[in-house]
Amino acid sequence: MKKSKLDHALKIRLPITVLVILITYAVTFFVSRAERDGIGYTPEQPIKFSHQLHAGKMTIDCKYCHTEVDKSRHAGIPATDICMNCHTVARKTKPEIQKLVKFYEGNQPIPWKRIHKVPDYAYFNHSVHVNKGMQCRHCHEDVASMDVVGQKHSFTMGSCLNCHRNPKEKMPDLFVDSAKVKIKNGPENCNACHR
Ligand code: HEC
Ligand code: HEC
Ligand code: HEC
Ligand code: HEC
Ligand code: HEC
Repeated sequence: MKKSKLDHALKIRLPITVLVILITYAVTFFVSRAERDGIGYTPEQPIKFSHQLHAGKMTIDCKYCHTEVDKSRHAGIPATDICMNCHTVARKTKPEIQKLVKFYEGNQPIPWKRIHKVPDYAYFNHSVHVNKGMQCRHCHEDVASMDVVGQKHSFTMGSCLNCHRNPKEKMPDLFVDSAKVKIKNGPENCNACHR
């Protein structure tokens, strides 16, 4: 009697338990990978600011707002003052601009939602990439045509390395004029990105 109960447990319960554990592991693994990969993340922002309008139609230079992109690690999100260079006048009766003015007058930063993000333990520096001639679109696609910005490329370790191993394949336009190419392969050693 006792023996058959144990048999039963081993033959039926154990395999089922193992199966459930495996499935749970597989599901969480793939779901969490998909979340971290980030492609397609396009959050609604607190003010309907359009890149298509400002950077596209009005052709305002990216660096007018992302002032640090060729100087430091982060591109930077513009302070409200930069918006107010124009919006003390432009469209000031529109509801979205009144929201903007409210943040400005209340001396409160606009709570823009962060889209692209590498974890703190990984080191990425905009200025190094940009000063070698890489363009925003090589990593962010054509932001000037986006009404709402979303993430188009993944920045997992695999995707960083993918470009570092073969920049020519990822950015063929930079290699057209071979006399002007100043780009080497990116680093693959661990402590370049994990310092
Ligand atoms: C008039 C100011 C302005 C200009 C010009 C501008 N941006 Fe932005 N950018 C912003 C603001 C504000 C945000 C945050 C709100 C948002 O995501 O739309 C932002 C967000 C972004 C983000 C997402 C940041 C994140 O959270 O990951 C990227 C990428 C970006 N801009 C790239 C560009 C590129 C490329 C250009 C030029 C083609 C450009 N921007 C021109 C103001 C500007
Ligand atoms: C160089 C001048 C300039 C700067 C800097 C600028 N804007 Fe604008 N913005 C404009 C103009 C001009 C329009 C109207 C364009 C049109 O409708 O054709 C506009 C339109 C808008 C609109 C749409 C208003 C509506 O409902 O019609 C929003 C929202 C907006 N801007 C937010 C911002 C924010 C936020 C910033 C700062 C990150 C910013 N703008 C920086 C000139 C500027
Ligand atoms: C080689 C790839 C690459 C290029 C080229 C690049 N970016 Fe980025 N960008 C990233 C990565 C990766 C992040 C996330 C960085 C982080 O979390 O520290 C990011 C984040 C951002 C952000 C969010 C705020 C910040 O500074 O982290 C903005 C804004 C931005 N990029 C704008 C730009 C603009 C404008 C250009 C062109 C002048 C540009 N990027 C070129 C990869 C790139
Ligand atoms: C589209 C191509 C591309 C992507 C994507 C890219 N890189 Fe690079 N990166 C390069 C190239 C090319 C170089 C080398 C440039 C040179 O030295 O000529 C480089 C250089 C570097 C360096 C050495 C310079 C420094 O800042 O110390 C680091 C670190 C680095 N990349 C980190 C990253 C990380 C982290 C990511 C992903 C989040 C990433 N890169 C994504 C192309 C890329
Ligand atoms: C070109 C830059 C780069 C290089 C070189 C690099 N890593 Fe990473 N690594 C990253 C980035 C970016 C992440 C974050 C990935 C994410 O968010 O999914 C990461 C994540 C990790 C993680 C966390 C595990 C995970 O999947 O989240 C480990 C562990 C790691 N790296 C180890 C290494 C080791 C060991 C090496 C050397 C053989 C190395 N890395 C080389 C950029 C790099």
